[in-house]
Amino acid sequence: MESPHGLLLSSFLLLTLSGAYAGDPAADLRRMAVIHSLIPAVPPSASRGAGSEAVNFTAAFRTSDNATLQLSVGILDNSTRQEMYSEWVDLGSPSSTVKVVSNPAAAYSVNNTIQVFVQCSDGQVYYLEQKPKHAVYFVTWYKLPGSLPVDEGGPALLVGRDSVSALAWKGRVAVFVRSMQVSSNLYWSTGVAKSFTPWQNLGGNLATDATVVYNPFSGYMEAYAVLSDGKVNRKDQVHDNKWQDWTVLGVSQPAMVNTSRPVAHAMSETIFHGMTEVFALGADGKIKHIWQTTCDNVVNPWGYCTWGLWGNIAGSLSNDIRVAYGYGMEKPQLRGQVNVLATGHNVHLGNEVFFVGKNGSLWHVWQLLRNDVWNGPDLIGRPAEGEIGSLPTIMQDRTGGWWRAYVITTKGQVGIVEQQKNLSISVEQMASGSNLTVSWRVPEDEAAGADWLGVYRRGDDENRNYLDFRYVQGGQNPKQPPVPKGSVTMAIYLPDGKYDLRYLVNRKFSDVMTTGVEVYNGPEDENWVQLYQGMAIGLGKEGLNITLCVKDGEATIKKFEQTWEAFLQREFWEGLKLLGVSLGDLVAALVQCEETAVAEALNKFVTDLMSCASAKQCTSFVVDLVKETEIWFKDSYEIFGDIRAASNNFRLLKAYKQGGVCVGRVVKACIDVDNNITKTVVY
Ligand SMILES: *[C@@H]1O[C@H](CO)[C@@H](O)[C@H](O)[C@H]1NC(C)=O
Ligand SMILES: *[C@@H]1O[C@H](CO)[C@@H](O)[C@H](O)[C@H]1NC(C)=O
Ligand SMILES: *[C@@H]1O[C@H](CO)[C@@H](O)[C@H](O)[C@H]1NC(C)=O
Ligand SMILES: *[C@@H]1O[C@H](CO)[C@@H](O)[C@H](O)[C@H]1NC(C)=O
Ligand SMILES: *[C@@H]1O[C@H](CO)[C@@H](O)[C@H](O)[C@H]1NC(C)=O
Ligand SMILES: *[C@@H]1O[C@H](CO)[C@@H](O)[C@H](O)[C@H]1NC(C)=O
Ligand SMILES: *[C@@H]1O[C@H](CO)[C@@H](O)[C@H](O)[C@H]1NC(C)=O
Ligand SMILES: *[C@@H]1O[C@H](CO)[C@@H](O)[C@H](O)[C@H]1NC(C)=O
Ligand SMILES: *[C@@H]1O[C@H](CO)[C@@H](O)[C@H](O)[C@H]1NC(C)=O
Ligand SMILES: *[C@@H]1O[C@H](CO)[C@@H](O)[C@H](O)[C@H]1NC(C)=O
Repeated sequence: MESPHGLLLSSFLLLTLSGAYAGDPAADLRRMAVIHSLIPAVPPSASRGAGSEAVNFTAAFRTSDNATLQLSVGILDNSTRQEMYSEWVDLGSPSSTVKVVSNPAAAYSVNNTIQVFVQCSDGQVYYLEQKPKHAVYFVTWYKLPGSLPVDEGGPALLVGRDSVSALAWKGRVAVFVRSMQVSSNLYWSTGVAKSFTPWQNLGGNLATDATVVYNPFSGYMEAYAVLSDGKVNRKDQVHDNKWQDWTVLGVSQPAMVNTSRPVAHAMSETIFHGMTEVFALGADGKIKHIWQTTCDNVVNPWGYCTWGLWGNIAGSLSNDIRVAYGYGMEKPQLRGQVNVLATGHNVHLGNEVFFVGKNGSLWHVWQLLRNDVWNGPDLIGRPAEGEIGSLPTIMQDRTGGWWRAYVITTKGQVGIVEQQKNLSISVEQMASGSNLTVSWRVPEDEAAGADWLGVYRRGDDENRNYLDFRYVQGGQNPKQPPVPKGSVTMAIYLPDGKYDLRYLVNRKFSDVMTTGVEVYNGPEDENWVQLYQGMAIGLGKEGLNITLCVKDGEATIKKFEQTWEAFLQREFWEGLKLLGVSLGDLVAALVQCEETAVAEALNKFVTDLMSCASAKQCTSFVVDLVKETEIWFKDSYEIFGDIRAASNNFRLLKAYKQGGVCVGRVVKACIDVDNNITKTVVY
């Protein structure tokens, strides 16, 4: 129990302390809160390139040298496509005696308004809220209700400055804070708009700041921190208002640094919905990690999920590299020992861990794919504005999933570190049937062997509607290894019009870069003539005037249309049978044209296809309908990619020549595979 005198005394102490901590937080403990405004605004006039129209912007908040909160507004520059940041706008502190000491944490509240929270010199949490009508205005300070306990020493008892976290959770904002106490505990409060619940003590006796993540699988939050036992502990929320006790995370936990908080990354996408991976800095200087292995709907002693074992991230950083690695290879040294790790993921959903090296450059260790091996540490670099003077804030871009690191430079500016990536084409306009060279450059951690390029009608957002495609190695079949920097030359036989070229990731229908081309001199022949010409090109018989040898081209078109319809209806066996029937017409035409060798090889393929499709039992084709449809010929060539491309050309665009090319080339690939196999058997 404190006497009123004690209270007075401690507030007096805080007063002097806030003076003493005027320079707090130390530059390299500082971390910005970065959040995209969902409400457009007319940017402040200080903004470079600002007009008077409302635009989308990114808000970057920092705690200043003067222990105030400051905002810099980032808007996209139309010409450079770079985000340009305004000068810092000072938002002050709750009062002349209540100064800002923690790093800010921001989240979306009701109606998409941003709330930004800080812990102040009196140990309490205050926030500012975005004005819906003037979205760059954050004016009035509000205090979260109730009173957090504070020990003598106040801010000096904090180790890091990431003492506050804010998350959007179930339509509310959940705020977590670490008390300024010798035995510091984690507290939480939730709020709807400006109505927050009183603080609830989650205990802990924290040595480090806590990391709180939302697990989309359980729908609940998970907190991680190093406690006074020196170990990474976790605390899982198991009901809206119930948390499990703090528990040491994993068995046989290695020794950890007790100044750097663990970080956690919840994977929120697709099949691995909601598995968390936790990273912590080991006492040996290596990055340690552990991850959830299975998640279930039933709470168990490990929350909703079970955990694997702690491991090192191979080739990790070290405080004394020569001791750890025994050779003089240049390895990064950390800039500090407090809250040094940050996480994110790349476009293939491999996890990444970031840290700032001693000379103010950003480094990372990374997985190429989810659950893949770890690479690095690799130097990423510095922002254009210069040396990094803060901890990084990692943001994921909402469309492609690329990461970006936001930092404060030693000169006090907002800096962005991202990797170079681009997609370009050799020409902006091309004649149908001529060559187009597509070039790209993606960072190594963002390049997978099954990345691909797709051609689309401009504005068609459905990535399954590709009209032509190439894997990054140039063919229609994905092969290792990845091609971070490369180009592919492709002839396009599409009709007149505007088309998009998209770079898509890892056999998935998820695009990350787009460029465009306009096609002129499109084919004007009759549809069936286009189809046969296309098939001849696909077969590598471009010079052959195949249309002279065709009996009833219109009938062939109908047969193909029925084939595509069957595939669309997911009647794959019927589709394969109809494909055989349609290709029968091509065999007949080739025979007429005395292209005997191709005709025979194709006929053999068609026979194989027909018997396979009718008997539904075959050695040559493997049909995998479980995830995305895949149909493999002789276990070595995937044919559905071309089938879908051909179908899209017929269906969406009546682009019969391009459709024919897709048919011709997949058939040729199969014949080639077949020939090779036969040869192996014979000789
Ligand atoms: C602003 O962002 C919203 C949501 O991301 C988007 O729909 C809108 O097109 C953007 N507006 C501008 C002018 O970029
Ligand atoms: C801190 O405050 C002083 C006095 O008001 C001012 O001169 C200085 O520019 C401020 N520093 C920052 C980083 O805002
Ligand atoms: C930027 O581009 C958008 C659309 O392309 C346009 O509406 C806007 O006026 C441009 N802004 C400036 C400042 O040029
Ligand atoms: C959210 O927006 C709705 C509709 O404009 C408004 O009625 C409501 O008061 C807003 N809520 C808050 C908390 O501002
Ligand atoms: C961190 O560990 C050191 C010893 O390694 C110990 O002296 C110190 O008290 C620990 N800090 C906390 C907050 O537990
Ligand atoms: C920073 O240090 C790394 C090695 O630790 C070095 O490769 C890099 O060039 C340095 N960057 C600058 C800008 O000095
Ligand atoms: C793409 O990025 C690479 C690497 O940064 C660069 O050398 C190249 O000039 C860029 N190409 C284009 C078209 O911007
Ligand atoms: C397109 O490029 C390929 C090689 O990349 C070449 O063999 C072919 O002749 C070119 N076609 C045209 C029409 O230029
Ligand atoms: C194919 O033959 C027809 C009929 O003789 C002719 O009109 C057409 O120009 C020829 N096409 C090509 C590409 O040689
Ligand atoms: C067939 O064999 C030849 C020569 O060995 C090779 O170049 C070609 O790539 C093979 N084709 C296929 C489709 O495997």
